[in-house]
Amino acid sequence: MPASNNKEERITQLKIKWLSGILIFFSLYATLRYIVFKGVDTAHFPSFIVNKILSISGLFFLAVSYASGKLKALRLGDKSRQIQFVKFSGLAGFSLSAMHVFISLILISPAYYPKFYSGDMMNVTGELTMVMGVFSLYCFSIPAITTIPFMQEAVGIRKWQQGQRMGYLGLLAALLHVGFMGFSGWVQIEKWPGHMPPISLLGALLILIPLFLKITKEKP
Ligand code: HEM
Repeated sequence: MPASNNKEERITQLKIKWLSGILIFFSLYATLRYIVFKGVDTAHFPSFIVNKILSISGLFFLAVSYASGKLKALRLGDKSRQIQFVKFSGLAGFSLSAMHVFISLILISPAYYPKFYSGDMMNVTGELTMVMGVFSLYCFSIPAITTIPFMQEAVGIRKWQQGQRMGYLGLLAALLHVGFMGFSGWVQIEKWPGHMPPISLLGALLILIPLFLKITKEKP
């Protein structure tokens, strides 16, 4: 087998391990927090809990994708491997977040998410949370489209870079998305099931890393 095929295969295996490792980690976290400590019925694992796992894993990969260019510890040897890593993490994050969106739209109802509703209609927390989620998805769809092969040549490097930067706006919108829904629970530490921080808080902390690096380290 040619050496380049071997290398490709090793990279694919690494990507699979990286993706499954993160999904397993957040699956254990969500299961422990919501099923073991909070007592959510296991009947709600397939959609309600899986939705939480997909949302935080998606955010993790998006944050890593945007932080990796700016953080030496997350840089891989040569430039082409670095670009591959950023693209893979970004697309993995986008696709997991898209699955989160589909599941959320199926579940959204006062019975599943009472904090978003006053009676039959959404309250201001629900509406602000939803609009920020939609805006975040819109922002991330632009860099995701520009990763299609030949897009860089088709739109020109400046427009392509602008498209990539939309992701930072996406991160900011995602921060507001999790902030509006979760803030009141973040500060009630005594109520955290099993002393485990809410997933929305983990999401906010993850987002702050690339945003902080963007502000403090303009050039990679
Ligand atoms: C149309 C767009 C979106 C809709 C309708 C939506 C809807 C929701 C809903 C209903 C929840 C509550 C889930 C729960 O508590 O179980 C939620 C939580 C969350 N969403 Fe979204 N979302 C959208 C976009 C996004 C995007 C683009 C991201 C990531 C970049 C994201 C990340 C998160 C995270 C991390 C949580 C916290 C989960 C938790 O605390 O359990 N969402 N979203």
